Amino acid sequence: MKKDSRAQITRKESWREYFLLSLESPAIAQNAQPGQFLMVRASVDTHPLLRRPFSIFSAEGKSVEIFFQKVGLGTRLLSEKQEGDTIDIIGPLGRGFTVKKEIRGKHSALIGGGRGIAPLYFLSQKLKAHGGTARVFYGGKSVEDLPVRERFEKSGTTLSCTTEDGSFGTRGQITEAFEAELNNGFTVSRIYACGPELMLKKIAEIAAALNVPAELSLESVMGCGFGACWGCVKRIRKGQEPGWHKICEEGPVLKAEDIIWELGNND
Ligand SMILES: Cc1cc2nc3c(=O)[nH]c(=O)nc-3n(C[C@H](O)[C@H](O)[C@H](O)COP(=O)(O)OP(=O)(O)OC[C@H]3O[C@@H](n4cnc5c(N)ncnc54)[C@H](O)[C@@H]3O)c2cc1C
Ligand code: FES
Repeated sequence: MKKDSRAQITRKESWREYFLLSLESPAIAQNAQPGQFLMVRASVDTHPLLRRPFSIFSAEGKSVEIFFQKVGLGTRLLSEKQEGDTIDIIGPLGRGFTVKKEIRGKHSALIGGGRGIAPLYFLSQKLKAHGGTARVFYGGKSVEDLPVRERFEKSGTTLSCTTEDGSFGTRGQITEAFEAELNNGFTVSRIYACGPELMLKKIAEIAAALNVPAELSLESVMGCGFGACWGCVKRIRKGQEPGWHKICEEGPVLKAEDIIWELGNND
């Protein structure tokens, strides 16, 4: 974990409420793994005081990228930053996705709902580098929620898009599109996903029914990002035992079977 108080924004892209920032931060970029995150200071003022967590969208050479949706004050302040500005970041943090040697020749499904696509570009590149293949399922309410689809297409990744209003790709929920593909004979040996918790819960159920390992990236409100504040605890299984654990240290990526769904009744 490194602190870089002067990570320079070298490129900014924006689409209505979504933003992609490239940050020059060599020490963080060199150590980053897909699924890990940064804690970003949105303002030099004391408000908002707490850093905000963002998945690492990519890490290459000296640069890391973050992709975020503007939802409140912190993300609004970040969205107003310009190329040449510097921001204060800490990272890489947390446990990311596991990409083992056995992935060579195997096919994975990467499922990202809305801003949940953020850690999956980096993962798709890493899987490819390890000789695996990936198909990315990218879903949102409308086409405006799928701004980074071209980035996947340019990298040659197979992409299936879904929108709830039918404005792009298949109409419906991303999990329905994934299930439909499975029913059409699509096979996977591993599932990775990030997005709203209801979506993740459904994916955990699909993975269990298929008996395929799944890793899911969870969100949690975070104060520090590195184990000091207990702001991020959730009930998960560690070993076989359920207990309250810090998501910033045990996660944010967890095995599907280790997650205790507060919204569901499988607890
Ligand atoms: C490990 C991790 C990785 C993340 N990666 C990304 C990413 O790559 N891109 C991205 O757009 N967002 C990501 N998030 C969510 C992001 O951190 C929040 O959207 C952000 O902190 C909101 O800050 P804000 O000041 O703009 O909003 P606030 O003013 O703090 O809150 C605005 C609204 O967002 C909700 N909110 C705030 N924090 C969270 C949270 N952590 N999870 C769910 N809802 C929240 C609040 O309840 C409120 O409704 C991630 C969260 C975690 C824990
Ligand atoms: S965010 Fe502070 S302990 Fe996890």
